[in-house]
Amino acid sequence: MVKKIGILTGGGDCPGLNAVIRGVVKSAILRHGWEVIGIKDGFDGLLTLNNAIPLTLEAVRGILPRGGTILGTTNRGNPFSYPLRQSDGSYIQTDISDQVIENARNLGIDALIAVGGEGSLKIALQLSQKGLPVVGVPKTIDNDLDKTDVTFGYNTALETATDALDKLHTTAESHHRVMILEVMGRYAGWIALESGIAGGADVILIPEIPFELEKICTSIKERKDRGGNFSIIVAAEGAFPTGGDRVVAEGATERYTIERLGGVGQFVAKQIEKCLDMDVRVTVLGHLQRGGSPTTFDRALGSRFGVRAVELVEQGDFGKMVALQGRKIVAVPIADATRELKQVNPDGEIVRAAESLGIMMGR
Ligand code: F6P
Repeated sequence: MVKKIGILTGGGDCPGLNAVIRGVVKSAILRHGWEVIGIKDGFDGLLTLNNAIPLTLEAVRGILPRGGTILGTTNRGNPFSYPLRQSDGSYIQTDISDQVIENARNLGIDALIAVGGEGSLKIALQLSQKGLPVVGVPKTIDNDLDKTDVTFGYNTALETATDALDKLHTTAESHHRVMILEVMGRYAGWIALESGIAGGADVILIPEIPFELEKICTSIKERKDRGGNFSIIVAAEGAFPTGGDRVVAEGATERYTIERLGGVGQFVAKQIEKCLDMDVRVTVLGHLQRGGSPTTFDRALGSRFGVRAVELVEQGDFGKMVALQGRKIVAVPIADATRELKQVNPDGEIVRAAESLGIMMGR
């Protein structure tokens, strides 16, 4: 018999997290009469017992349109390989998962709802395999989680990127320039691809299709010959040239084990300036894509995910993640959803549609 559940948000934040939290709290309290506590700052909140807050109906009132997460989050620190600081200032990766599970039990929760991307859900899966009853909710603006058609947060990020492209169009046209917009997307180019189509880009560069600089120049020159005296390029941060590497802004360290990407826009600009007689300017959209109020779509999806996650807890269906397939919210094993990233198919319908629209895909 479930009486009390916990919820945490892990990984990079995204719009719609508060809609999920609210959906969980409202349905847990109103439908089931359970108590809900929020764990602060992702799995880090389970390192001690004083990082939990009661989530009442009052606590979630008014949060639906708010970006970010009222619980806080972190995209560093995996309890199975946690960077523990030593007295000499160095870090040692230590497995502290037993302590995390014990703390969850001591908080008196019968189940944990973990809202996160691929990294956080892999941690959730490992904790569930060690006996903690866990249900996952998929989140990421990158939309690269498998077994769900989309993750919440992605739609809002797309709106932001498309709006930026609309704005870049007007200034590009006035100055006859090439404008490059660098968007997020570490391993998957969904944001670049769909905002590029929606925003009328001329070139889209994604991690799934290594790009050829000479071909980019040729396509911009050809467009100019056809009377298009400006061009718009959208580049996912994880895009890279054939035979080259992703552009890293900051390498991984002992403490932050994931490298920070950034700079592909500048890289492409420097190269194509050599072969084009046009000004090139770069805009890095960065964390604007992760901020702001969620779109209607993300609010509704986040709310439905939250409600369904509570239903899975009630059914004792643990180790599962809620997912959108077609128009239905379903439950899939977290193991299946985190086995492989959902990348853009370079020969799939969306890329073919882009190419049929005359968009150059870097190849
Ligand atoms: O995974 C989402 C994401 O937005 C990536 O696209 C990006 O590389 C990363 O987060 C940036 O994270 P941080 O907030 O650590 O800069």
